[in-house]
Amino acid sequence: MRTRFTETFGVEHPIVCGGMTAVGTADLIGAVAEAGALGFLTALTQPSPEALGSEIARCRDLTDRPFGVNLTLLPTIQPVPYDEYCQAIIESGVKVVETAGNSPAPYLPAFRAAGVKVVHKAVAVRHALSAERLGVDAISIDGFECAGHPGEDDVTALVLVRAAARRLRIPIVASGGVADGAGLVAALALGADAVNMGTRFVASREAPVHENVKSQIVANDERATQLVFREFRNTARVARNAISEEIVRRSAVPGATFDDIADLASGARGRKEVLQRGDLDGGLWWVGQSQGLIDEVLSCREIVDSIIDDAEALIAHRLPALIEQPEVVR
Ligand SMILES: Cc1cc2nc3c(=O)[nH]c(=O)nc-3n(C[C@H](O)[C@H](O)[C@H](O)COP(=O)(O)O)c2cc1C
Repeated sequence: MRTRFTETFGVEHPIVCGGMTAVGTADLIGAVAEAGALGFLTALTQPSPEALGSEIARCRDLTDRPFGVNLTLLPTIQPVPYDEYCQAIIESGVKVVETAGNSPAPYLPAFRAAGVKVVHKAVAVRHALSAERLGVDAISIDGFECAGHPGEDDVTALVLVRAAARRLRIPIVASGGVADGAGLVAALALGADAVNMGTRFVASREAPVHENVKSQIVANDERATQLVFREFRNTARVARNAISEEIVRRSAVPGATFDDIADLASGARGRKEVLQRGDLDGGLWWVGQSQGLIDEVLSCREIVDSIIDDAEALIAHRLPALIEQPEVVR
């Protein structure tokens, strides 16, 4: 399957594995690359720019196919040396970066000078248009269904991707809510050039998270997510569990501040207790509504191959039959 995205980024399939803190390591991203999709190592999962350089080298040992690095630009308690991470990416020779969060403007000149293409992840058409004007190479647009930060506008991918496709000229990646071939075909029909998936790749054999997490994604339906941090205008979609319920309860108390939930909300706690130790009620963990479409843990190759096979069958058989032979439509 060829699209503007596969042509621009030199990948076999129009499928992306977006940056995921603590999940997007070489183990997963090397496997995604070997499957012919474009994965992003997550820069800030590595404790220093030097460690990111080593992780990029480790990924190169696992694949000679293209992969990129995600740089999530968010305010943090400890200041992050973004310029140095940026330099480590450039020096490593990686040729594609996924930016997310704040505007990528400060880093674009250096990336452009080094021939690094930039996919910017946005949650609103107005932000996507700003990034296009800044000169990014593609936009990944994240619908309300997505794991992580869907923004505050609550526009689902069915409308958001179409609205973005009507306005943007550069390639578009539909993100959030996609986990199978039908999702890819739907995204292409809306005008996207590729899909981005997070949750589907967490439930892969190669993802470096506890087996309990993968099994719970398979067991959960599409209703088993919850929005937290709404009151603080920093909404995040997470798996519904004892901690997310308690955060929502405490946040609803009039006059509540972030300090009232900080102990429960800690990302480090979720990574250690849930992702590493497998205690599913031990902290917050990010997951999207697309978990309701995930029936088994598969290898990255099986995930990518089945999505492409199913999408091609839909495009080649079911959709043409709708107009050519109405009597065989089921
Ligand atoms: C465990 C997890 C961690 C994530 N961490 C990040 C991150 O650090 N930076 C980022 O830009 N997006 C992050 N995301 C969002 C994904 O890159 C992607 O946009 C999202 O998962 C798409 O929605 P889906 O889960 O429905 O496929 C994360 C998602 C998950 C599931």
